[in-house]
Amino acid sequence: MICAKLLTQAARLALRDELGANQSALMHKIPKVELHVHIEGTLTPELRWRLAQRRGVKARFGHDDIKIDTLQDLRTAYDNIISSAQLCAGLPSEHLVTFFQAYYSGFEFLTTRQDFYDLAMDWFRRAAAMNVRYCEPFFDPQGHTSRGVTWEDMMGGFRDAQRTAASELNIQSRWIMCFLRDQPPEDAIKHYKAALEYRDMIVGIGLDSNERDRPPCLFEEVFALARRDGFKLTAHCDVGVKDTHTHIRQVASTLAGGCGLDRMDHGLNVADKTDLTALVAQRDMSMTICPWAYLRRETYDSIAERIRVLVDAGIRVSIASDSPAYTDQSWVTHNLLLTQRMCGFTDRDMVKLVKNGVDASWAEPNVKEAILLEIDAVQDS
Ligand code: ADE
Ligand code: ZN
Repeated sequence: MICAKLLTQAARLALRDELGANQSALMHKIPKVELHVHIEGTLTPELRWRLAQRRGVKARFGHDDIKIDTLQDLRTAYDNIISSAQLCAGLPSEHLVTFFQAYYSGFEFLTTRQDFYDLAMDWFRRAAAMNVRYCEPFFDPQGHTSRGVTWEDMMGGFRDAQRTAASELNIQSRWIMCFLRDQPPEDAIKHYKAALEYRDMIVGIGLDSNERDRPPCLFEEVFALARRDGFKLTAHCDVGVKDTHTHIRQVASTLAGGCGLDRMDHGLNVADKTDLTALVAQRDMSMTICPWAYLRRETYDSIAERIRVLVDAGIRVSIASDSPAYTDQSWVTHNLLLTQRMCGFTDRDMVKLVKNGVDASWAEPNVKEAILLEIDAVQDS
């Protein structure tokens, strides 16, 4: 039985393949949105390899102890990523790569406008194949400007891809600019001001990266500015991190001038405390839940139980993928199918979660309406 222990890597990969194989499942064909995907977290081994070859450099991964001579080495390295919790548990570190090491080491292959275009188009093409109609990808500008990448190349590549996706793939999108919480708040403000030139592309502001000892309140000034300027606001509350309940409370009720943000990314630990569950429900806050991303550090059963608590409390939960290339290549459809399996949800329950995503999105009303109509048509067919 699937179970009260962490799933092994082999079990996760087998589950992914099994869920992905049943192409007639409603979750494959249903039109959907994706509200929590880091564009840098969609860099597959294949694309990393291609970008490295184009640049004429080695396809480094994580740190220099990891030997990557072939595309297959890279695929294996992606499969072997561990969580920082597993690292703390005393595994020998020289041959292992944590999620954040893997994720940030991919940034060095993104330099030119063409690189950013290729990254975004790779995602949009895959999204189209999964019947994603609208998405709000996150991007981490600080991870690029700090390496000398220009805003023009980064945003230009994203903009070109966004236009191609709309005209050729029937996918609308708006970007969410995330600040790295392990960098100084002043750097977030500097980037916020620089990004205003690209305002028409950006719908929201988020907060990501390593959450340990970096509470969201450190970023109050930039959130207050962004709210004043009309941006939507969200922040990561990663699962099981130190002080998570305090961080959740700030995101749900005190940030951005004392009312809290508009959405919460992850925040599964809301389910641990009845007062937090009631707070998020009463504020009518939406949450993006990415169950596959939790499998390396939380048990299958405990993830399922907490999702059920949130849904039963009437919280607008939507299901997303986070950084799918680094979480066993499990994309939004895999996350929906996993949720259905682990929570024992019916197709009808799942349609509600998919519609939650549309409601929680920051798309124009006509875009939302069109997707909801399409969902009803597929459901009735
Ligand atoms: N950046 C990319 N994925 C992330 C995650 N799961 N948490 C925080 N920052 C991230
Ligand atoms: Zn995330």
